[in-house]
Amino acid sequence: MTFEIDYTLIKKACNLLHQSDVVAMPTETVYGLAADATTDQAIVKIYEMKNRPSFNPLIAHFPDIEAAKKYVHFSKTAELLAKHFWGLDYHRPLTLVLPRLENTNLSHLATAGLDTVAVRVPAHPIALELLRQFRKPLAAPSANRSNHISPTTAEHVRMSFGENAPFILDGGACQIGLESTILDMTQDQPVLLRPGGATVEEIEDVLKLPVLRHNDPSATIKAPGMLKRHYAPSLPLRLNVVKPLHGEAFLGFGHAENAILNLSPSSNLSEAASNLFSMLRDLDNPKFNGIAVMPIPHEGLGLAINDRLSRAATKS
Ligand code: TXA
Ligand code: MG
Repeated sequence: MTFEIDYTLIKKACNLLHQSDVVAMPTETVYGLAADATTDQAIVKIYEMKNRPSFNPLIAHFPDIEAAKKYVHFSKTAELLAKHFWGLDYHRPLTLVLPRLENTNLSHLATAGLDTVAVRVPAHPIALELLRQFRKPLAAPSANRSNHISPTTAEHVRMSFGENAPFILDGGACQIGLESTILDMTQDQPVLLRPGGATVEEIEDVLKLPVLRHNDPSATIKAPGMLKRHYAPSLPLRLNVVKPLHGEAFLGFGHAENAILNLSPSSNLSEAASNLFSMLRDLDNPKFNGIAVMPIPHEGLGLAINDRLSRAATKS
């Protein structure tokens, strides 16, 4: 992607971050609400703005593996994954949960007191430039209020926070449109904590090892933040619908005659992923009495799409 970076705006964002303020930054997955991951005062602001339960730890973002190595321990397998997924030429959104090194200045509030840290190198040139200039890790959850739909444009961030919106670096629409895949690498066997923009198939292919799902009985660690209801529109949501009810907004996938919007008319899962959150927003309109979504296959990116949809459909 070629992208004009406005260095004056990056500098402004850096100055705000140095003052323990938060800024919204574009990533290839969703917009993040970023703050200095080494300063409790800054982290508190994220939790407050999002209205997020403070036991839910945040992802620490770095410009490259080397920077992350100052904060967490990479096993050989973790390094293999990081090198494969976090390149400048080839990149996929993968977050690794790794053991925290002792004597780092990472805020314990950011990691909710855990002795592990979720680390990620994003791909968006604006996020990378901000991380390079700031020279400290940035904690960044999605830039929306807790339990709302994740933002994939700067406008979504503005809408989510209204007059309390932070300074936003506008990097256009997010390419992937779904949060990163989270993989726990603190045990011998990798555990999938959250399906996301990097597919399990590709991870297994690189590792030559099966990945456990976090609800497997053999997987003992859970993602503390995997709240059941999440990413929710205000209207009720029904999944795997072939025939919508009267008054429902029908969200299609593949060939769909009476769909109001279609995630991907050609059944392309990456196109569907990048449209998911913005189409749910567009259909979340009181002129409808619900949103009905067509079946999405449970393979590749479909795993993450179905995960977000089933959370959005769960009544709190
Ligand atoms: O694509 C993404 O990952 C986006 C962009 C902004 O980078 N970020 C994002 O962050 O989705 P957030 O805060 O919405 O989700 C972070 C998830 C939570 O479910 C949290 O519980 C989990 O990561 N997490 C963070 N640290 C963890 C840890 N040490 N162990 C297990 N899970 C952890
Ligand atoms: Mg989120």
